[in-house]
Order: sequence, then structure tokens, then C-alpha cells
Amino acid sequence: MAALGPSGLFHSQGVCDRRPRQLLSKHTISPGARRARSAFRGRSPVKVQAATPQQVLHELPLPTGDWTCNIPVLGETLLFTADPAKWSRERMARHGPVFQSHILGKPTVIVGDLVNWQKVLSTDFKHVGQYFTESFAKASGVAVVADKNQHAFQRKAIAHAFEPEAMASYLPFMRGILHRYLDIWAAMPAGVDLRSAGRKLGFEFAAALVLGRELDESTRDRMSEHYAAVMNAFFTIPVDLPFTPFGKAMASRNAIQTWIRDEFLDEAQQYMVTKQIQGRRGIIHSFLDAREPQNAKDALLAQQIMDQIQTTILAGNDTTATGMISLLGLWPQLPQRVKEKLREEQNEVRGKYGDELGAKAMAAMPYALSTVKEIMRILPTAAGIFRVALEDFELAGKLIRKGSSTRPALAVWGMGPHVCQGIPLFYQEAKMLLAILTRSYDVVNLSGPFEWNLLPVVSPKTPVTIAIKAC
Ligand code: HEM
Repeated sequence: MAALGPSGLFHSQGVCDRRPRQLLSKHTISPGARRARSAFRGRSPVKVQAATPQQVLHELPLPTGDWTCNIPVLGETLLFTADPAKWSRERMARHGPVFQSHILGKPTVIVGDLVNWQKVLSTDFKHVGQYFTESFAKASGVAVVADKNQHAFQRKAIAHAFEPEAMASYLPFMRGILHRYLDIWAAMPAGVDLRSAGRKLGFEFAAALVLGRELDESTRDRMSEHYAAVMNAFFTIPVDLPFTPFGKAMASRNAIQTWIRDEFLDEAQQYMVTKQIQGRRGIIHSFLDAREPQNAKDALLAQQIMDQIQTTILAGNDTTATGMISLLGLWPQLPQRVKEKLREEQNEVRGKYGDELGAKAMAAMPYALSTVKEIMRILPTAAGIFRVALEDFELAGKLIRKGSSTRPALAVWGMGPHVCQGIPLFYQEAKMLLAILTRSYDVVNLSGPFEWNLLPVVSPKTPVTIAIKAC
């Protein structure tokens, strides 16, 4: 299911869109279309011109749905979040794949199937544009790039960081991080909380790979908290007071910006001029390579560097954390035959490439990769993707009107022009985790059976303690 907008896909300018087609307001049926209609009824003797595509579009019905206007704020939010898959299935059976709802305070169009969601995302920059809530945009520093070419330039600027050569250079780094964490957890017989374990690992990976260096423990914990506060801003009202969630998110934004300015800005500016890296190459170095060295001290660029660091860590942080939580949480439940196949594969890889998990060894793990993909399919990370309709358009025979927001739960990596750039990075991290677990550790669930929440992000419904056992 692709659930669109807070949310759902497109909200329709605050009106209850359960209206049947005949109740469409005057402006949704153009005067031309009206004239054409009466002509077809045979009342007009004048010759009628063929309807324009716009007229045809505005003749389409609006999406229908189950919600009623008398629950203005909650709408179907509780039903939706309780069991999104069932909720969506039931409504799709009644209304088709594109239907109307009201979620998290907004009238919303839900796109329930992959084909139509694909259509939506493939029209990015045309029918739809990226959308962030005002609170999130302010707290996170992410900006909607409305210009297609500028966006393409920005993606190109960090694309080198995800190419095979760069990916291979991150391997020792990733190995070090994973062994460090697994050893620490293995020394804790009472186990660790699954969610916080995944979060720490996710932030460590994201920050270390963007910056090219590892963080000390207290900085990592502090910054990971600040990033969590920024993410929490998504559904807040943008009132910036010290005690409001949004105020706290803004304070966290300032703390992150200060940290980046004090710790990395000088180094980044020097790198632009000297091309000398202190430590390892990170994703940010590709961004710096795409800028003119003589502009290194430019104030606007300095802010762009800081924003790029902040938002790239943001892009990789929660998503990787969620992926790690899924992998560690599902490991104890993996069928025995899957674990055996993983072991066979690792034995083969070890036989060919030795103990080191180098680039060739990583490339020779198709079964580990398939296992990761399957886990991501079962527990799809509901990244905060939103779209706003930039113009009226047709979807599944329905009229989708200009002015809305979107959030899919289906396409794990997104699609179209904004498709995730970090896919190879995450697959590499995830495969390495599975390889190391298969070779040297086991994960035991100390809490017994538990269920998963799929929204707003994948996480266990109740606290889960896992123990890492070295073997
Ligand atoms: C499980 C891990 C991850 C998942 C599920 C994930 C998911 C996504 C999704 C769904 C999008 C599309 C956003 C949209 O359409 O608006 C996206 C975009 C993006 N992701 Fe990831 N991501 C993951 C990891 C990462 C990592 C590790 C990085 C790198 C640090 C990264 C970097 C990016 C970037 C740069 C974009 C922006 C693309 C654009 O706007 O053009 N992602 N990701």
C-alpha cells in the first residue's frame, strides 16, 4: 500500500471530498464543459467543439472514500494507523486503488497500489513536487528543490560517493563499526534494547560515512538525540517556544549546526583548496569536489556545506536505523534453512577470499543480499515521503486536484527523480551485518514474541530486548 499524505497523498483544499460527482463545484467543471454537456443533451442547435483535454480532465470524478466530515480533526487517523494494510485493503475493495480519506488533520487522497504510486512519483517536477511539513523543513534544513536541473546537479554532486570504488573504500570503516558494536553488546548478558541498538548503529553509520570519521561516544549519543528531536518535528505545529516539540526541534537544529560549524566547516573549506583529507573520505567530500575551490570561504557556500552535512546525515540516519532494527529484530525468527544457506554462502566466500570482508567477498553474497531485500519487503521502512500536487491531473480515472501532500509506505526506496541514492550503501551495511552475524554471532530475543508497527516508521510495538552471543 502506498499511503499518501498525512497525510496521504493529496489533500483537497480542506473540503470533504466524499461528494458524488454531480456535486462538483462550479470551478471544477469548466463553463466549456458545461456548454458541451447541454449540447449533447440535444438542446443546443449550435455546433459544439470537441472537449479540450482540460475539460475532459475536469469531467472526471473525484476520489471517493469512507470518511465523513463530522470527525474533522482525527478523521480516519486511528483506523489507518491501527492496521494500515487491512484498512487500505478494505477501502480499495470499495473505492478502487485511489481513494479519499482524512488523516492527521488533512483531507487526503490515498494511493493504494504500486502501479499508481509509480505513476505519481514518475511525474515528480511535473504533476507533483516534494513536500515537507513547514515544521520539518525549518527544523531539518531540507529544502524542496523545485528546479529539475538544479536537483539533478545536486544529485550528481554526491553521486561519486555511491560508486563502486567509493563503496569499497568504506568497507574497513563499516567492518570496524559493526565489530565494535557487536563486541560491546556481546559483553552485555542482560541484552540490549532493540530499538536503541538499531538507532545507535544507524546514526553511527550515517554520521561516519558522511563525515569520513567516527565520533566519540558522548558526541554520538548527544547528536543522535538531536537528530531524533528534528525528526519528531514532522507532525508538529511550527510554534517556536522552548517547551513546544517544535521549539525543541529548533533548539536541536541549532545544536547540530553549531557542532558541524565548530567541528567540520574549517576542515571542509581547507579540503576544497588543498584536497588533503584528514581521516577518511566521506560522502561530503564528493559534494565539496563539485564546488569551485576559490569559493571555499564564501558565506553562502559555508551554509550550504553545513546544510548538506546535516541533511545527508538525516537522509541516512533514521532509515538505516530502521533497517538495522528490522535485521536484528527478525534474525531470531529467520527459518533455520535460511540461516543454513547463509552459512553455506559465507563458508564459500571465506574459502575464496579469506576472512577479510573486502569488495570481492561482498560482491559474492547474493543470498545475503536477497535476505536483506526480503526483510525490507516484509518490513518496508516508511520513509517520510510526501508529495504535493502541482497541478490538477488524472490518476486511475480520478481527478486529483492541485494542492496536496503525500506519504507512501510501499516503495521502500522511492522512485523517479528522487529515488534513494544511498541504496548501495545500505545494502553493503546490511549484507555485512548478516555476514558477520552468520560467521561469529547469534541474536537471541529475550522478550518473547512481539508485533511490529509499520507506521509512522517500522519499530517493535513493545520494547524488545535482544542478546548478542558470540559463537
Ligand atoms: C534503509 C535505508 C534507506 C531507506 C529505506 C531510504 C529510503 C529513501 C527514500 C524512500 C527516498 C526517496 C525520498 C523521496 O522520494 O522524497 C530516499 C532518498 C534519498 N536517500 Fe535514502 N534511504 C535509505 C538509506 C539512505 C542512506 C544510507 C543514504 C546516504 C547517506 C541515503 C541518501 C538518500 C538521498 C541523498 C536521497 C535524496 C534523493 C533526492 O531527493 O533526490 N539514503 N531514501
